[in-house]
Formats: sequence, C-alpha cells, structure tokens
Amino acid sequence: MLLRTIIPTSSLTVARAEGCHVYDESDRAYYDFTSGIGVLNLGHSHPTIVEAVQRQAAAVMHAQFTTVASSQLNRFAAEVTRWIPTSLTDVFPTNSGSEAIDSSVRMARQITGRSVVISFDGAFHGRTVAAASVSAYSSKIKHGFHPMMAGVVHSSYPGVNGRSVEEAIDQLEFLLDAQVSPEDVAAILIEPIQGENAYRKADPEFMVYLRTLADRIGAKLIVDEVQSGYGRSGTFWAFEQSDIVPDMIVAGKAAGGGLPFGYVALKGEDAECLLPGSFGGTFGGNPMAMAAALATFEVFTSEDPMQASIDNAAWVTSALSQIKSESRYVKEVRQHGYMIALDLVDDQGKPDAASVNRVLKAAEDRGLLLIKGGRNGTSIRVLPPLNTPKGDLIAGLELLRQAVRSLSTSTTA
Ligand SMILES: Cc1ncc(COP(=O)(O)O)c(C=O)c1O
Repeated sequence: MLLRTIIPTSSLTVARAEGCHVYDESDRAYYDFTSGIGVLNLGHSHPTIVEAVQRQAAAVMHAQFTTVASSQLNRFAAEVTRWIPTSLTDVFPTNSGSEAIDSSVRMARQITGRSVVISFDGAFHGRTVAAASVSAYSSKIKHGFHPMMAGVVHSSYPGVNGRSVEEAIDQLEFLLDAQVSPEDVAAILIEPIQGENAYRKADPEFMVYLRTLADRIGAKLIVDEVQSGYGRSGTFWAFEQSDIVPDMIVAGKAAGGGLPFGYVALKGEDAECLLPGSFGGTFGGNPMAMAAALATFEVFTSEDPMQASIDNAAWVTSALSQIKSESRYVKEVRQHGYMIALDLVDDQGKPDAASVNRVLKAAEDRGLLLIKGGRNGTSIRVLPPLNTPKGDLIAGLELLRQAVRSLSTSTTA
C-alpha cells in the first residue's frame, strides 16, 4: 500500500485529465484549480508536450549525463538561456525542486567556502534534509527528524507574522551583528513569493535590500522560483517584479511540463569555482523530462499562456473581491498573477482551518479542486492553469463563490 500517512486533500481518484479538467473513475469532470500544486501551468497533457514525450520515448528514454551527452539535455541547456538573465549561463538539472534547492545550497557553500544559509520565516523549500532545514513553514516537516542540517538561520519575511519591510531589514541586520558573522554567510535564499505560505510577496524594496546585502557581505542571492516560476505570478519569474538579478535561480514544478524536473541556473564565474565531479545524478535532465521541458518553452512562445492569464487577471480580481465582499469569513485575498489565496477566519475573526476544510469539501462536491496553505492550513489556494479559457475560469470561480457562501449557510443552520 501507499505509505499510510499520505492522505490526499480530495477524495477523488483521477482516471484521466485534460487542460483545466480532471475526471474521476466514473468520468465526472472537475475543474482542477490546483494545477498539481503549480506544475500544470499549461494544463494537463498539453498536446505539444504529449507529442514531444511520445516521440522521445520511441527515440531514447534514458541517457545518464555523466556517462554520455544527450542531445535533448544539450538543447535544453542552450534554450533555457533565453528565459533567464544573461549573467546566468550554466544550468544543473535535477529530478525535483527539493534536489535543486539542496544543490543550490551545496553550490553556494562550495563557491564561497562558507557555510551559513539565511532563509526566511514562512518559507517552504522542500522535504529533503537540506531543503527542510532551510524551510520555516510548518514544524510538521521537521518533527521527529532533528537534528536538521546545521548552518541555517531564519529571519523575518516582510508580511509574515505582521513584520513590515523595515522590521524585516532591522532583524536581518541585527542577526548579522548578534548571531552570525557576515563572513560566514554563503547564501541568502528566498522565495520572491512564498508558495506554501499562501502567496505572500516580498516587497521589491526588500528584494533590492537583499541584493545589496548579498553583494556587501559576499554571499550568493538564491531565488526559489519552484512554485512562482514559469508565468505563475504574472511574470515569467517572480523576481522580475523587483529590480534585481539573483546569483542563482532554482526552478522546478512547471519546468517539466508534468514530468519530474528541476534545475539550478547560475553564473559562469560561480560555476568555474565548483569542483569537477561534485555534482551529478542518475535521472536529472533525462531525455523524457528534457523533451517535455523544451516543449514547455515552445508552448510559452507559440501560445503565450502568460499573456492570456494577464488578460484575465483583472476580471479574476473582481470575481475575487465579490467573493470577499459577500462573506465575513474571507479576511484577506491575495493575488499575484494566478497565485491566489483567501485567508479564512471564524466568527471571532480568528484564522480558521476548519472553514478552509469545509470550503474545499464544498468546492469538490460542486466539481472544483482547490488546495490549502498558509499557517496551519488557514488559507485556500487557487492556481488555475495559465491557459484556462475564460469561460472555465468564470465557471470555476462561481463554484468557489458558492463553496464560500455555503460557510454562512452551514454556520446559520
Ligand atoms: C517554493 C518551493 N520550493 C521547493 C519545493 C520542493 O519541490 P519538490 O516538491 O519538487 O521537491 C516546493 C514544493 O512545493 C516549493 O513550493
């Protein structure tokens, strides 16, 4: 049996999927506004990706990159440079976001010869030991696993636990005076928009401060774009909404178009500091994932799904504000492109996970899949594929509206 502690949020078993829809075993359709937690930015089984993967399966399925060169991986390494800042010239392929995060931390340590990583309250970077160590989102991902990786300190993320940008900056400066010497800091690692923590965005001013700080102390600035990347936030990368260029980008999820894939993009001068043989892997950048990753770029170019999401964003904003205005249980709505979160509260105005569970269930009963997030699961997250047709967006958000309204009905009843 599947590990018994894995209990899906929804009760549905997916039999097939297409675009923004999944179908259960009795062929009932659901709107999938989870996008597989940010993987399916182009929807389920995009025909261009399916065709590329099918073709690749018949040509070559596996080519291990430290044994033989693969034309698919070489093509990806060339193509990706069109999508990242020109200063980032090298890419290291992995199987997942967590592995890419681990790799970025190992790279920063090897490049700088230092060990400390600064990351932020509310962050989720994955579940491998290093990725969990730099996370500070939920103690559940660390419970029973201590000691975690040493050399990690957490500072305030603006907007988390009520911290302003000024307070977050003050705290980080204090930390560098009182807890960690700047000369020991290898990396500053940040999600420009926190994913699991229900779409809180670092103010551009804070991102610029981090860029300046990293330069001042000689540390690498790493942005975790595993969830926010590939158009999810309204720009291809969320860091583009601040006036900065990071030293490393960590990507994953949507990068593989539905196949497992992640990567680290870094500067050539930093790549030159890495020891030959210290980075590798069996499956990273395998030809199947590369065919899907290249087809993903092709669709971003030929169909411009990001522009489609931007075109619909204003309409989505008004639908969300209507939902908020109709319910006293919706305390706040955040929307960055198609990273959408609703914070729910109870009758006393306190963050309320039970209401989130009720809305998720009511939405699923009506044919809409959503996920939760935020501290203790007190937020609903809505992540439609970027290319969701407007009619489906309207219909899906109407189901969300009904599900939220059902809270008042069930409370009154
Ligand atoms: C921002 C962020 N970083 C890293 C990860 C880890 O990626 P993966 O689950 O592919 O290991 C996630 C997963 O949700 C994420 O949201």
